Amino acid sequence: MSDLTKLEKQIEQDLKKLNSEELNKKYLSNRGLLKDAFSKISEIKNNQKAEYGKKLNELKNLVEKQLKNLERKALSKITKRIDPTAPFDYNTSLEKRPRILDLEGSSHLLMDELEKFLQIFQSMGFDIVESRQTDDDYHMFESLNFPKGHPARDMYDTFWTEEGFVLPAHTSTMQNRILKSKNPPIRTAIPGRCFRNESTDSSHEHTFFQIEGIYVDKGVSIANMIATIKEFLETYLETELEIKIQPAYFPFTEPDAEFTISCPFCNKKGCSTCGYTGWIELMGCGMIHPNVLKSANIDPEEYSGFAWGVGLDRLLMIKNYIPDIRELRAGNIKFLRKY
Ligand code: FA5
Repeated sequence: MSDLTKLEKQIEQDLKKLNSEELNKKYLSNRGLLKDAFSKISEIKNNQKAEYGKKLNELKNLVEKQLKNLERKALSKITKRIDPTAPFDYNTSLEKRPRILDLEGSSHLLMDELEKFLQIFQSMGFDIVESRQTDDDYHMFESLNFPKGHPARDMYDTFWTEEGFVLPAHTSTMQNRILKSKNPPIRTAIPGRCFRNESTDSSHEHTFFQIEGIYVDKGVSIANMIATIKEFLETYLETELEIKIQPAYFPFTEPDAEFTISCPFCNKKGCSTCGYTGWIELMGCGMIHPNVLKSANIDPEEYSGFAWGVGLDRLLMIKNYIPDIRELRAGNIKFLRKY
């Protein structure tokens, strides 16, 4: 037993200074001191064996307990809070974590309003096709009557991948695909995410949603375009509107227009939403250019059509009194709870 008393003293000292690797090697490994002491049990007198074994097990437990402690300490160093902007420390116990994480998620305002837009178009007989989030030069420009070097390409400054793909600056990228894949009469609404290399402000984002509309048939006129867009806007904004068509320029429509509505908040008296002009500019539109119809093998002598591209974000801001477009993607929990 005096050997064990010596061993115990040695262990007590080593627990204070050795690291886990050293402890393991010195006491628990195959050549370790505890292993060695266990192997000597057979040499112990029978009447002392039980006590010897018990003491040895106690010493072994002591070393193992210290190894566990050291392991836990090392782990807590790794999971130490490393992101000071995170809403809570990773080591915070479940019951002490902030309550936001217990709340159920809900769909985002943008998605709710998009759903309303699409239901209105469906009820007007349009089918729905989603636009792509990466595209090519042909669909972004060439097929829309912007040949290489056309100065109007500069109106659509967006992002390009190293492989030459483009993040579409508008949903008009889908016009050629829709016109090629369907036979007239064509009535399609195309929601999609758009990207522009913009300096952002309260009405400009680098990422936003547009909904393109395409209508092609025999004898379609600009009067049909105005009536269709007006009907959609009045249904969505749930009010009667006055409209104004202003000249614009898009290489893929002729004639082209900027669609403007009387401000639904001040009834043309002037307020902060309409910039005190009484009118709000909402979308680009026009009669589809004969070259665009031809590039999709549709004879412009036989068919005509119109198209528009409306910004979902700006329109839902008007409806929901949201003064700054950047709120929609800022992830601000107060804003998300309100809407
Ligand atoms: C276009 O993008 C044309 N493709 C629209 C079109 C389609 C014309 C079919 C003719 C025929 P414009 O660049 O004006 O046009 O954008 C249309 C709408 O997208 C704008 O009225 C606005 O509501 C929205 N929009 C454009 N840029 C931004 C932006 N940076 N942030 C938020 N919304 C934007």
